[in-house]
Amino acid sequence: MANPKVAIKYKKIFINNEFIDSKSGKTFTSISPVNESVVAEIAEGDKADVDAAVRAAKAAFEYGSEWRNLQPAQRAILLNKLGDLVDRDAEQIASIQTLENGKVYAQSFGEVKIAANVFRYYAGWCDKVHGETLPTDNGQLVITRKEPIGVVGQIVPWNAPILLLALKWAPALAVGCTIVLKPAEQSSLCTLHITALTKEAGFPKGVINVVLGYGPTVGAAVSEHPDIVKVTFTGSTEVGKKIMIASGKSNLKRVTLELGGKSPLVICDDVNVDEAVNIAHEAIFSNSGQICVAASRTYVHSKIYDEFVKKSKELALKRKLGDPFDSTVAQGPQVDKKIFNRVMNYIKIGKESGAKLETGGERFGTVGYYIKPTVFSNVTDDMVIAKEEIFGPVQQILKYENFDDVIKRANNTTYGLGAGIITNDINKALKFSQAIESGSVWVNQYAALTPSAPFGGYKQSGIGRELGPDALENYLQTKTISIKLTPPA
Ligand code: NAI
Ligand code: MG
Repeated sequence: MANPKVAIKYKKIFINNEFIDSKSGKTFTSISPVNESVVAEIAEGDKADVDAAVRAAKAAFEYGSEWRNLQPAQRAILLNKLGDLVDRDAEQIASIQTLENGKVYAQSFGEVKIAANVFRYYAGWCDKVHGETLPTDNGQLVITRKEPIGVVGQIVPWNAPILLLALKWAPALAVGCTIVLKPAEQSSLCTLHITALTKEAGFPKGVINVVLGYGPTVGAAVSEHPDIVKVTFTGSTEVGKKIMIASGKSNLKRVTLELGGKSPLVICDDVNVDEAVNIAHEAIFSNSGQICVAASRTYVHSKIYDEFVKKSKELALKRKLGDPFDSTVAQGPQVDKKIFNRVMNYIKIGKESGAKLETGGERFGTVGYYIKPTVFSNVTDDMVIAKEEIFGPVQQILKYENFDDVIKRANNTTYGLGAGIITNDINKALKFSQAIESGSVWVNQYAALTPSAPFGGYKQSGIGRELGPDALENYLQTKTISIKLTPPA
């Protein structure tokens, strides 16, 4: 599917079910990382556009509005319809995404399909969220209601833009909130295509609003806005901290954060080495290493260490780079020049710190932001490349001798998003799964995701959970109604 003709229909801000220019009339240029060509000029929003979007979302949430008057089962119909439309347009959405962020097309397509299922999963929850009737000590009747929290701000990154959007939109809509979304500037166009589908599905005006533009302007305006009562964010830990501060300073927004990671993958000495090498390879190199749960610390038992390193190097050398629309290609470019430079700098730091560069470590080609799959061995826990999130195709292989010791080393990080273990020993698998300080643990596989399974971080990898029933709570608040009853005569 090389060089597709991608039709870009939508380039503007979306408020009250209409695509509109930014108030300032400004635009910004989207550059494809695939070949550095211009994809489109996009309306660039600012605080004034966020204000307009919040006004629309607030009106749509008001008592008596069309959205508030919908029955839960009617919201389910809309969410199912949206899931179907996302399925229908999956090729188009995935193509735009690949052009914008360089993800290999098959993965883009698969991700859009999962997003459709996330909408359907939460469609099922619409009429199953309810409060309780509680026993009391004074004869009154106490009932609780689970009510939508109100206007929510949602800020998403570019690495899995459609899936991460679905993780945020679906539960918020299922419970009846209204939304102001700020997509990443690198993935505005695929976001706008799915946005158009919400209107086609029949969501009333003002329920979903999308303001395009940059983090320090649009993102900051969302996190500071006094009429947004909740903000959910996925992105860097650095920006996550800024969002918490802005929320605290403005109006004590409820905050859900899904942030970075330095996720460990432990390989025991009882495994089939070829299989383990394959799992570890995909766990770090998938999406050019730009995955929040990327297994960026591969801990390998000393008994199989040399063989593992040799085979990891061979596999990395075989990984085919190039045009992400070419179905034989395994790895596309990094998302943009800034991220490319950031990753290259970490590779330099790795080389200087004494880690052994087994393969890669340099740019691939001269056009587009491609980096050769890079493998470092002889990595130690104190090195920067073993501590900081690189977010690129760079594997760190570390050696261990003792199982209890490697659990402690795996936990010795400020992060806690993902973790994995490969072993045939059930005791080790269970011991590790329980002891590891991480929101998700994968056994004999890595980074598997399903709509019903909560996902989120321990420690500085985040606050709160997305997916599963847990995510509904992000968008709900509990109301207690106490009714005085006349005692029986
Ligand atoms: P970022 O955290 O700056 O961007 C994520 C989103 O936040 C984007 O929509 C961006 O416009 C917005 N944003 C930026 N500054 C903001 C602010 N002051 N207030 C509100 N919103 C703001 O991430 P970036 O710069 O794209 O990547 C830098 C690093 O962050 C990566 O190298 C990686 O380590 C990490 N990252 C982690 C992700 C994850 O999935 N956990 C996703 C993207 C980046
Ligand atoms: Mg940034």
